[in-house]
Amino acid sequence: MKADPRLIVPLDLPTTAEAQGVVEALGEAVSFYKVGLELFATDGMALARALKAQGKQVFLDWKLHDIGTTVQRAAAVLADTGCDLLTVHGEPQVMASAVRGRGRSDLKILAVTVLTSLSDADLVEMGYAETAKALVERRIHQALDAGCDGVVASPHEAALARAIGGKDFLVVTPGVRPDWAAKNDQARAATPADAIKAGASHIVCGRPITGANDPQAAARRIIAEMAGA
Ligand code: C5P
Repeated sequence: MKADPRLIVPLDLPTTAEAQGVVEALGEAVSFYKVGLELFATDGMALARALKAQGKQVFLDWKLHDIGTTVQRAAAVLADTGCDLLTVHGEPQVMASAVRGRGRSDLKILAVTVLTSLSDADLVEMGYAETAKALVERRIHQALDAGCDGVVASPHEAALARAIGGKDFLVVTPGVRPDWAAKNDQARAATPADAIKAGASHIVCGRPITGANDPQAAARRIIAEMAGA
């Protein structure tokens, strides 16, 4: 069975050596990896370049959030690495700056609409007058207007993002758990098949694979479930 490029495995590990161990164990079964803040704090970009050299696709989950000029310059530098996806916070100025920065490169910009850890009460405390759901919807529209390629969305928001964004919009959903895997801290998880049916273009699924006794078998099982969706 070939890799399914719709499956992204997050390398949430403390060292690049451990991350490379997972990549080796998964072999040809997985072609797309997410490198997040934990590895960014050590040598995450070195890992990202190594993954690109191995022919993998790389999702840089840096969630950029800064003044426009800084975001634009950072996006331009990251575009030069040949990486494939970059997240930025879903504020209009930030999103537009990232899109300017990536220019004509192949780097796709994904907006994080509202962090799923934020409740309606948290948003009120932060000074927002909208519920999380309303703010997610507003920001999906703003992501489109800014020229972003897609959004990060929970499986429960995937249908909304697909409906607003249209058929080519990227809808990348974490919070995915097969029936046979532990939920860990993903309280409102959906199965790989349900996430795809809801409109996800990609799923991010980590611990059910990286924590499995046989990570490659776990990845193949998830790929089969996605194919059946
Ligand atoms: O191991 P697991 O499948 O839970 O990993 C999910 C990945 O997606 C982690 O890297 C996590 O930081 C990320 N993520 C998430 N929920 C969000 C946004 C990102 O789980 N709302």
